[in-house]
Amino acid sequence: MACILKLQSYLLAFLLATSITTALAEDAEEPIKVGAPVTAVQQGKDAEIKCSTTLAGNNKLSWYKGEGGQLVPENKSLSVSANYTTGLLTVQNAQLNDTGTYQCQTDGGVHNATAELHVYEMPSYFEEGMIIVGITTGLVLVFIICAVHSFIRNRKPKPPKPAPKKPINTVL
Ligand SMILES: *[C@@H]1O[C@H](CO)[C@@H](O)[C@H](O)[C@H]1NC(C)=O
Ligand SMILES: *[C@@H]1O[C@H](CO)[C@@H](O)[C@H](O)[C@H]1NC(C)=O
Ligand SMILES: *[C@@H]1O[C@H](CO)[C@@H](O)[C@H](O)[C@H]1NC(C)=O
Ligand SMILES: *[C@@H]1O[C@H](CO)[C@@H](O)[C@H](O)[C@H]1NC(C)=O
Repeated sequence: MACILKLQSYLLAFLLATSITTALAEDAEEPIKVGAPVTAVQQGKDAEIKCSTTLAGNNKLSWYKGEGGQLVPENKSLSVSANYTTGLLTVQNAQLNDTGTYQCQTDGGVHNATAELHVYEMPSYFEEGMIIVGITTGLVLVFIICAVHSFIRNRKPKPPKPAPKKPINTVL
């Protein structure tokens, strides 16, 4: 239970940090930017990262992978490909070694923007965790229902007490 509470607070902190980062990222007016600075995808799934530019003219957007800056080909039949016209990087059937930094550049590499891709394996304890969360939620619901039920029952007006019988005074 304490573990779940801890997890919840981590999750809240993470969401808060993410929204702040997003807000900051939106503030900066970059000539070139990626749709998401960090993308996480489960192994075997597809991932897409968008790159866009505010530069006028017919600016092509190319993608490079890793420190070495390997050009991502514009070839849809490859698992990692890019569309230089739309700026969309596509990773099909993502593998663990697709994890890394990807850099989007305008034609001459004058402007660039980086995005990170994390490909992760679904840990088996994730499903166990979900089951525990499910059971906990169920128990909490039962507890709430019981509490509400007993609250309502206690609020019901009690049957009026019979009036105390006065001894009938027959003596006048
Ligand atoms: C695209 O990739 C496939 C698979 O590697 C290859 O056979 C094909 O020749 C490539 N096409 C182009 C236009 O590069
Ligand atoms: C890039 O995307 C555009 C619009 O979806 C499409 O018309 C074009 O064929 C794509 N180019 C490649 C090389 O896939
Ligand atoms: C990544 O790993 C897959 C198999 O898991 C392999 O087929 C592929 O060639 C590897 N790619 C690179 C760039 O190492
Ligand atoms: C990316 O752009 C920055 C300037 O915005 C530049 O300093 C850096 O060298 C560029 N990186 C690459 C790999 O082109």
